[in-house]
Amino acid sequence: MQLRGDVATILGSALVLLAVGAVTVALGARPIAPRLNHGRGAHYAHSGSYRIVAWKRVDELPQPLAVFESVFWEPADTDSLRRLIAASKQVREKHVLEIGTGSGLVSLCCLQAGAARVVATDINSAAVANAAYNARRFGWAQRLELRTVSPERPAAYSVLREGEQFDLIVSNPPWEDAVPRSNAEYALYDPGFELLRSMLAELRTRLRPGGRAWLAYGCRSAIVMIHQLADEHGLHVTTLDSRPLSDLPEVFLPGMLLEVEPKPAWNR
Ligand SMILES: C[S@@+](CC[C@H](N)C(=O)[O-])C[C@H]1O[C@@H](n2cnc3c(N)ncnc32)[C@H](O)[C@@H]1O
Repeated sequence: MQLRGDVATILGSALVLLAVGAVTVALGARPIAPRLNHGRGAHYAHSGSYRIVAWKRVDELPQPLAVFESVFWEPADTDSLRRLIAASKQVREKHVLEIGTGSGLVSLCCLQAGAARVVATDINSAAVANAAYNARRFGWAQRLELRTVSPERPAAYSVLREGEQFDLIVSNPPWEDAVPRSNAEYALYDPGFELLRSMLAELRTRLRPGGRAWLAYGCRSAIVMIHQLADEHGLHVTTLDSRPLSDLPEVFLPGMLLEVEPKPAWNR
């Protein structure tokens, strides 16, 4: 397993140490009064309940985020994406789609930056529950709509309605081409880069006029593929990062931020 996987593995070990003090929440329970988990096992089998394994802060958000068991946490993936969201006029009052929301970190940054509404998806149902829980704690649940992606239909826009479009699409998706073997590994591996392919193939039709996508990737092969696919699909890619890709290892942190926009008709 490479860099991002190592980060997850280290985090996983730390979480086992935290297990006794971990907190579980039942979906629908009031977020301000989570039930204490006095159990000792690392697994919590009660359906519809999730274990909070950590509370994490980032500069862009006013309070800590809960992170549920099996849900991804590595904010270095999205340092530059979060800074851009906080600074850009592309978010305020806009309709945003986030593909692969995890704890809800990036969606909540969009809401903090004034997005009118965010639709966020994830294939890991614990992540969907986690993002919903954090949105409720922040008081932003009305502006965040969460949708669970089925592993049988994992394409980027499979849970969107026909004709549904956004001003901005953001994603810090799985970066590496490998097969996930657990819910947690969905955060790391995109087999055959199928999620990436589906994201770019339909991007033009999912963006409103003037819309764009901001993608965080820390994998050279994936970024090379983004450039190839962008050509095929009439998209323009701007790298919002000063590091030359050729100087970086195959998998690296912090993630690189790419802006992807439809090319104007005269330039396709
Ligand atoms: C690297 S994590 C990023 C999570 C969060 N956006 C963040 O930056 O902390 C990628 C997320 O994408 C989700 N994911 C993987 N494949 C997906 C798919 N086909 N559709 C939607 N979400 C997916 C994973 O479950 C994981 O939560």
